[in-house]
Amino acid sequence: MIPKLQVALDNLSLKDALKSLKEYGNIIDVIEVGTILHVSEGLEPIRFLRILYPEKIILADIKGADAGSILAKQCFDAGATWMTAICCADIQTMKSMLKVSKEYEEDKDIQIELYGDWTFERAKIWKEAGLKQVVYHRSRDAELSGKDWSDEDLIKIKKLCDMDFKVTVTGGLKVENLKLFKNLPIYCFIAGRGIREAKNPKQMAMNFKEEIKKYWK
Ligand code: 5RP
Ligand code: MG
Repeated sequence: MIPKLQVALDNLSLKDALKSLKEYGNIIDVIEVGTILHVSEGLEPIRFLRILYPEKIILADIKGADAGSILAKQCFDAGATWMTAICCADIQTMKSMLKVSKEYEEDKDIQIELYGDWTFERAKIWKEAGLKQVVYHRSRDAELSGKDWSDEDLIKIKKLCDMDFKVTVTGGLKVENLKLFKNLPIYCFIAGRGIREAKNPKQMAMNFKEEIKKYWK
């Protein structure tokens, strides 16, 4: 399967996010309302984008840690297709989100955001609980301190794919990074700054798409 392309709108305002998105909104597969934008504007961007892009997958990257049912209801009522839970959340929180997702249309889903000290033992528990998606991150802060993609990342990503998770990869991705993952069945690539802050964001979104097509059939 060809990996999807998601753009993370980690803008400080909805106005800015919309200005950026209108350039490449029709090219990408998944629109993410980033954690930063959620902190600025709550769930309003989800409501707005659902009206503007009725057919798109829209992700609410709230990195939910507790109160799973309430958060899930809030995100899905606003129009999100997917929402995120942070990996250190209690399994009951994740199960509650999943349970709520099943009360909506079939496409609703939960992504677990992998940060810090998660383990494969925990990943097994997520799998057994019915969670299907994980997001493998290189954190912004790790990246800023100079951490590049490594073999260790690729081994962990492969292990998650082998466990049959749909694995999304993100964290300061640039178009030239994609080939690193070419032997892996990546579900989705998320780029934020790499597309939003490009000189020509529309062209850059197309470059990401082209690069994906080069390595995945
Ligand atoms: C960070 C995030 C970002 O949305 C994600 O990493 C994509 O942004 P960028 O490509 O700018 O790193 O969730 O926690
Ligand atoms: Mg994000």
